[in-house]
Amino acid sequence: MTVSLSDGAANRVACHPMYAHIVTLPGDGIGPEVTAAAVEVLSAVGRRFEHEFTFQDHLIGGAAIDAGGHPLPPETVAACRQADAVLLGAVGGPRWDGGDSEVRPEQGLLGIRRELGLFANLRPIRVLPELVGASPLRPEIVEGVDILFVRELTSGIYFGEAGTKDGTSYQVMQYTAQEVERIVRVAGDAARARGGKLTMVDKANVLEPSRLWRKVAAELVAVEYPDLDYDVVLVDAMAMYLVSRPGDFDVVVTSNLFGDILTDEASMISGSLGMLPSASLGSGGPGLYEPVHGSAPDIAGAGVANPLAAILAAAMALRHSLDLEGEAAAVEAAVAAAIASGLRTPDIAAGGASVGTGEMTATVIEALG
Ligand code: IPM
Ligand code: MG
Repeated sequence: MTVSLSDGAANRVACHPMYAHIVTLPGDGIGPEVTAAAVEVLSAVGRRFEHEFTFQDHLIGGAAIDAGGHPLPPETVAACRQADAVLLGAVGGPRWDGGDSEVRPEQGLLGIRRELGLFANLRPIRVLPELVGASPLRPEIVEGVDILFVRELTSGIYFGEAGTKDGTSYQVMQYTAQEVERIVRVAGDAARARGGKLTMVDKANVLEPSRLWRKVAAELVAVEYPDLDYDVVLVDAMAMYLVSRPGDFDVVVTSNLFGDILTDEASMISGSLGMLPSASLGSGGPGLYEPVHGSAPDIAGAGVANPLAAILAAAMALRHSLDLEGEAAAVEAAVAAAIASGLRTPDIAAGGASVGTGEMTATVIEALG
């Protein structure tokens, strides 16, 4: 089986103008605000490049629990399966904490990833030159950093058997060789298309599933990617290297839990979680695009959320699901132009003057032309 970086739609012949149906899952907290910003930008892309995009909102997370008691209604799953791409805002918030584990908002997100078979989560960490000062790390450490994290998304401890019995809790970490192979292939393809360097992160000195990762990845790389500069790093050491020498990494592939933790850490390289998009892809069907950030309930509804992660996620949808590379690059350039013009939302303003979600979005759209 060939696993490509696209979700299959890329095999379509690009014809202009194109029609695409996009399902939006705004979710909770700042999710609706940043999703609306991404939809505005995609609508502007449609007008500028003469594509017809249709959008349809569906429930997920806490919003879905409030409406019908379940974080992932079957109608939502069915609608996503019919879509060309899915845009998600964020899920979760203190309002739904403390409920039993099956009705947590996060189960909606894990459920849709699993239902759509989105095993490959791409999280690019790039530092715009103007935002070097927004990082808590020293400029010489973050300048020029360009890492692509490839996180396994539908297996591992996140989906292992779990339970609590007689005051003891457990959750099983497990991986099959096939699950490791397919994610390493996605990362290998990406590394080949980028800087030619691939780093696999595990905890093989302690964990049995990590030893499987190490063996399977090494064999696969030797046979299918002998041209890559391949390296393995233990996850604890990686946590250190991400803040001491992040510039040494190109593509990093790792398991579900390690990828979750390391990408939050890596977000600080770029200054704010509010800047980071992600794409979750499978080997058929629509991809799902979301900011790496969470629902930020403390600022929800205040109109100050940074919309750029959601907008950059929409750019990834244009690239990976709709095969519109030129349009994706135009959105990324418009985001860079908005930042270069000096505009900052509070999360990247380093205490200086800032604008709200609406003004930042309007500026990106203006920069699109
Ligand atoms: C992420 C988030 C999710 C995860 C949560 C909200 C379930 O932290 O996408 O990184 O742990 O995968
Ligand atoms: Mg996370």
